Parts: sequence; structure tokens; C-alpha cells
Amino acid sequence: MIFRQLFDSESSTYTYLLASRRGGEALIIDPVLEKVDRYLQLLDELDLKLIKAVDTHIHADHITGLGALRDRTRCITVMGEQSGVDVVSMRVSEGDKIDVEGVALDVMYTPGHTDDSYSFLLDDRVFTGDTLLIRGTGRTDFQHGSASAQYDSIFNKLLRLPDDTLVFPAHDYKGDTVSTIGEERACNPRLQVSSEAEYVEIMDNLNLPNPKMMDVAVPANLKIGLLQDELKRMGLSLTCQEGISKASDPSIILVDLRDDSERGKNGVIPGSVHAPYPDLDENINPGGLLYELAKTSGRQIVFYCAFGERSAMAVETALKAGISDACHLAGGMDAWKAANGPVA
Ligand SMILES: [Fe+2]
Repeated sequence: MIFRQLFDSESSTYTYLLASRRGGEALIIDPVLEKVDRYLQLLDELDLKLIKAVDTHIHADHITGLGALRDRTRCITVMGEQSGVDVVSMRVSEGDKIDVEGVALDVMYTPGHTDDSYSFLLDDRVFTGDTLLIRGTGRTDFQHGSASAQYDSIFNKLLRLPDDTLVFPAHDYKGDTVSTIGEERACNPRLQVSSEAEYVEIMDNLNLPNPKMMDVAVPANLKIGLLQDELKRMGLSLTCQEGISKASDPSIILVDLRDDSERGKNGVIPGSVHAPYPDLDENINPGGLLYELAKTSGRQIVFYCAFGERSAMAVETALKAGISDACHLAGGMDAWKAANGPVA
């Protein structure tokens, strides 16, 4: 496995790059905007294709690299379903998996630091975001934080992992890089409590100043969505109402770009074809499934995904590949369901 722990010294943030092999698909956890060039260089050096960029929560101390990485690599942006960001490509919840070729993260909902905080488990290691730090825990006094929720996340979820599970946090301010669940249970001063009330008492009396970047970072991190307006202006997007009335029209073909896990959880539009977004380049070029479908059937391709991000990028890719008759469903499956579109 390729595993890199990268550091941003301005915000003391750790970013993790994961892939199963050189030349394969990669995912990145908690990228920092200022470091995006470095990540792209490393991806290039290791011959990796970035498929997913994931944030453990909405950060208050740095601007996320999710939007920039999406714009520059066309990767899928992923956050938890509670995150109040304008749009990400994919949202996950407890029990889901985030996968790329050869790597599958188990999604654990671990609120407390914020109400959208997640941890991700990969075999022998867990990425704990700001929920569990090395010899510390993430503050719980803003962004809908809750010390009692964090107690529950730590004691009833994270500390139940095997003792030798490696702990990789989103930050460290002292220079530590990794710990284990057993080590934190024994040595983390915040965890030496006998009750939830005692933990809450500690957390409620930390009296920390706000992070210096907070007023800049939080608003910026809430607005990372891809602008879909341009496609609308170009007449390349369908509203859900238009989609619903055209769904059984034989002149169009609906193409679902989502992962299997999303299709299983949220259902599919009846009659649509599945062509996962990570395989788009392969499918859209001559000889590929979508290319042949568009050219031989003469039907218009209507891409859809969860929120309209992947489908908007797919329209641009299709146009570049010479498929001129493609558009997308604005707002994706989320908007489709809200408009009472049929779901199978
Ligand atoms: Fe944080």
C-alpha cells in the first residue's frame, strides 16, 4: 500500500494520501488549500490518479483543498451527510464505505468536535480527524460541538477498536505523528475520566481562543461547490421537472455516475444505465461504452449523480470527447427525490 502522511506547518494539519499501488487510484483525506500543488506533484511522481478527496469535517483553522483538487483533477469530493457545505459530490454516513481501487475506508460517525465529524477506519489504522488527537481531543466549543457527543464517539466507538489500531489524527501541535488506541486509552490525559459528566466538565472549561483562521476558513469551507450555472446558461442542464417529464422519452438515455454504495442506499432512476464516474475517461472515448452508446443509438446522454457535481464534470468531459449531445440533471438524485421523481 502507498501511504503518505503530509504536514501543513501553518495549521499543523496532517493530510493522508492512500493508494493500493503505483499507477493506481488514490484518495486523500483532509487536504489543505495551500498544499494542493505539493499533492499534485506527489500524485504525479507516484503515478497516481486522484479519485476521491475527503474531509473529516468542516475545518475552522484552514481552507480545505477539496474544491481546488476537484477543479484540477476532476476528483470526487466527499463529506459526511451533516456537513452544511453548499455541495460536495458525495455524502456519507455511519456504516458506509469510501472506496477506490484496492482501498476501502469504513465510515464512522464520530460527532462532538463538530456535528459533522467523521473518522475513517482502514484495516490496522483509523483516521480520527479532530475527534481523537494524540494525548488530546478536539475542542467542542463551536460549530455545533458537543462534549457529551464526543465522549460517546470516543468511548463507545473509537476506544472499542483493537488496542493496536494506529491512530492518525488531523492535527498535532507537538510533533507526534501516530499513536494507538491502547496508548491513548492509557495515556491521553483527557480520557482519564470516570464518567461522561467529568469529561464534559473538562471540555467546558478549556477557555480556548478562537482559531486565527476561523472567520475566513469556515465561510470558505462552506462554499466549495462546483458552479453548475455555466452549464445551465449553455443549455446543458435539465431541471428535475424536465427530467421527470422526459424520463421515458426514447430519445434520451439516463446515465448514473454514482458508486454502487450510493445506488444501494438512495435508489436509481428506473431505466438508467450505470457507468461509474471513476471509469468515465475509459467509457467516454472511442471504443468505450458511453461513446458507442451515444454514437450508435443517436440518443442524448443525460448524466446524473448525487448532487450534480460529477454529472456537470462529465458533460464537459463528454463534449471534449466529441459527444456533443450530452447534458446533466441539475441537483442530481437529491433534487430528483425532492421533486418526487420515480425511484427504483
Ligand atoms: Fe477541526
